Amino acid sequence: MKTLIKNGTVVNSTGTATADVLIDGDTIAAVLAPGSTLLGFDIERNVDTVIDAAGKYVIPGGIDAHTHMQMPFGGTEASDTFETGTRAAAWGGTTSIVDFVVQYAGENVLDQYAAWQDKARGECAIDYGFHQILSDVQDSSLVAMDELVKEGVSSFKLFMAYKGVFLSDDGQIVKAMQKASSNGSMIMMHAENGSVIDLLVQQAIAAGNTSPYNHGLTRPWQAEEEATHRAIMLANLTGAPLYVVHVSAKQAVEQIAVARDRGQNVFGETCPQYLYLSLEDQLGAQSDEWGSFEGAKWVCSTPLRSKAEGHQHHMWQSLRTNDIQMVSTDHCPFCMKGQKDMGLTDFSKIPNGIGSVEHRMDLLYQGVVDKQISLERWVEVTSTTPARMFGMYGQKGVIQPGADGDVVIYDPNGHTSIGVGKTHHMNMDYSAYEGFEIDGHVDTVLSRGKVVIDDNQYLGAKGDGKYIKRGLSQYLI
Ligand code: URP
Ligand code: ZN
Ligand code: ZN
Repeated sequence: MKTLIKNGTVVNSTGTATADVLIDGDTIAAVLAPGSTLLGFDIERNVDTVIDAAGKYVIPGGIDAHTHMQMPFGGTEASDTFETGTRAAAWGGTTSIVDFVVQYAGENVLDQYAAWQDKARGECAIDYGFHQILSDVQDSSLVAMDELVKEGVSSFKLFMAYKGVFLSDDGQIVKAMQKASSNGSMIMMHAENGSVIDLLVQQAIAAGNTSPYNHGLTRPWQAEEEATHRAIMLANLTGAPLYVVHVSAKQAVEQIAVARDRGQNVFGETCPQYLYLSLEDQLGAQSDEWGSFEGAKWVCSTPLRSKAEGHQHHMWQSLRTNDIQMVSTDHCPFCMKGQKDMGLTDFSKIPNGIGSVEHRMDLLYQGVVDKQISLERWVEVTSTTPARMFGMYGQKGVIQPGADGDVVIYDPNGHTSIGVGKTHHMNMDYSAYEGFEIDGHVDTVLSRGKVVIDDNQYLGAKGDGKYIKRGLSQYLI
C-alpha cells in the first residue's frame, strides 16, 4: 500500500516546508518538493491513494507519553480501556501512547509488566509503549529494572505522595535512582510531599471542608515545590536523570529551571489542564445535577492551580522558553456517576484524574492560534520531544524518510467543538473541556501508513497498534 500526501505544509519541530510525503507500507519513504518525480517515475500515478493536503498542516502523529488506561486506582479503575482510550487518542491526532505498568507494594515488578502486556496486546488502535511504576523498591525490583530496559521499558515512575498506595520513601527513591544512573534509564517523579498533604487532608475533613475544591487547597504549591526540589537533590546525589511529571506550580518549574541551568539532566512535563484550567474554575463550578460537587470533574494530582497566582501564565511561558519540555495528558479518566461520586461527602475519596487523551493536540494547537507557542513548538512539545525523551525518535516524532507513517493532516481552517455529544470518544460521562472551541481540526490520521481517521470517520481497528520497544532517552549521553 502506497500513499502520497501532496501539497501539504509539512511541519517538523525544526521547520516548515511545502512538500509531498510518500508513505510505502508502514514507513515514510520520501519527503519531496511538491510534484517531484522520483528518478523520472511519476509518483502520483503509481500509488494506491493520493491525499490532497493543500492548505493543511502535515505533522508527525502526536505522542502522549503519560496515560493510564484501565488503571486500578482510588478504589476503582480508570474508565478507558486500552481499546477505547487509544481509539479516542486516534480521533484526536495522537498515534502513540506510553502508558504505565503499575506495581503496588508487595507485588513483583516483572509479573506486573507481563500482566500489563496481556491487557494491552491486541486491544490498541495505535502504537503503545510502557513506563514502569515502582512503589516499594525491593531488591528484585532493581534487578527487574535492568530486565525491563532490555524489553524497551526505559523509564520508571516513583511517587512522593499516596502513602500506602504508591509512595516510595527517600531511601527507596535513592536505590531506584542509583540503578537508573547505572543502566541509563529515566526516573519519572510524581513530586508532591505526601505526608504534608495527608495531614492537611485530615484537618480539612475534620473541619467539615469536604467539597472537591478542598482537594486543591490541601495540595498547595509548597508541597509540590518542596518535593520537586528534594527529587532534584536526590537525582543530583545519584547522577540519575529526572523527569518531573504533571508539573502545575510555577515554583516547581523554577526548581526545574535552576537545576537545568546548573547542568543537571532534569526535565519537566506539564498537561493541558494546567495550561487551560484553574482552581478558580473548580471553585466556581456548579451544576443542577451535582451542585458544587461539579468540581469533582477536575480533581487530579498535582491539582489545578490558582490563575490569580499566575501558574497558568507561567506554564505557557515555560513551554516557550523550554523550562518545560513537553506536554502529556496524564489521561486518567473516571465517570462522575459511579466513580467520582464515591467522594460526594469526602473529597479525599474522589478518584484522582482527568481524561483528555483525545484533545491534547487540539488544545495545544489553540495555543498556536492564541500566539502562546509557534507552530513548530506545537509539534515539538506534543511529538518530537516525547519521542526523544523516551527513546523513540527517528521511528516516531518526525516526518522524514524511514520514520513510521504516523501522520496527521490538520486543518487550520477547520473547527472543533469539544464536548459530550460533539467530539467525545473517551469512555467518560463528561468532558473536562466541555464547551471549548478550537480553531482547527484533525482531518486525517495515519497510523503506520494506515488511514485510521478520515473525514470524521474511524477507519481503524482494535489491534492495529503495536508495542513500541523503546530505547534510552536521546537527551542523555
Ligand atoms: O490525578 C492523577 N494524576 N491521576 C493519575 C495518577 C498520577 O499520579 O499520575
Ligand atoms: Zn502522578
Ligand atoms: Zn499519571
